Amino acid sequence: MSLLSKIFKSKTVGEIENSTGNHSIPGHVAIMMDGNGRWATKRGLPRTAGHANAAGKLENLMTYLLDRGVHTVSLYAFSTENWKRSKQEVDFLMNLMTKELKRGKKRFMEMNVRIKAIGRRDNIPTKLLDAIEDLELATFGNTRGTLCLAIDYGGQDEIVRAAQAAIDEGVENLTKEAFNSYLDSGELTPIDLVIRTSGEFRLSNFMLWQMAYSEFAFIPEMWPDMTPKILEKILKDYSTRNRRFGGTKK
Ligand code: IPE
Ligand code: IPE
Ligand code: MG
Repeated sequence: MSLLSKIFKSKTVGEIENSTGNHSIPGHVAIMMDGNGRWATKRGLPRTAGHANAAGKLENLMTYLLDRGVHTVSLYAFSTENWKRSKQEVDFLMNLMTKELKRGKKRFMEMNVRIKAIGRRDNIPTKLLDAIEDLELATFGNTRGTLCLAIDYGGQDEIVRAAQAAIDEGVENLTKEAFNSYLDSGELTPIDLVIRTSGEFRLSNFMLWQMAYSEFAFIPEMWPDMTPKILEKILKDYSTRNRRFGGTKK
């Protein structure tokens, strides 16, 4: 475990419930931003145009969720499986993420949002890694909410790395709580609500451990078409769910 990860793991963020104390609002929302390529292709544009369009919408959507009392938003930006795409698309995505993170620094500070990345740090370009680590350090003390970015992230990969880290430290009698602390996302609360755009009904290796008791919203809109209005509808639907966690109806 790097020194930086140790420092980050020492901090606990988020509360069990959302920041307004309102249980009908999800505290931690995980978003699978899918459909950028199809959105662009349908308009006769290169797939990369969909990614570029999508990036521009994030601030508005994040602000909306924070205003509603969500304290953590996890975004699936690039999966461990996305390396299978063309070099041109992968390079574009790596450059786009680097550019957006550098450009966003001032805004994240103004918004008082902490940035936390999860995923592998050994394969992404150095420039992107530098941008991530710079943001993590700069925003560490921010308290309004957390934006967790899943970059070169795979749920299975995260679980295996956590298991290996526990083995390396000679841990015996591993508990659920102790195991959780070895995950990249260790200090985040469990995911309350997962949103996936583009009409696909699968998890694509996103935060598998953290989704053990999540609610799900699979919606047909492509990610570049996402709006606060759509989020509002999803949150309204979430507020009607009866989360029993294995117990009986409240
Ligand atoms: C999601 O959109 C963004 C990433 C996976 C990086 P896609 O690029 O998967 O778009 P579709 O699913 O091919 O339309
Ligand atoms: C999941 O979307 C990854 C991200 C949203 C970054 P994909 O488009 O890669 O997933 P599959 O291939 O449809 O399962
Ligand atoms: Mg996709």
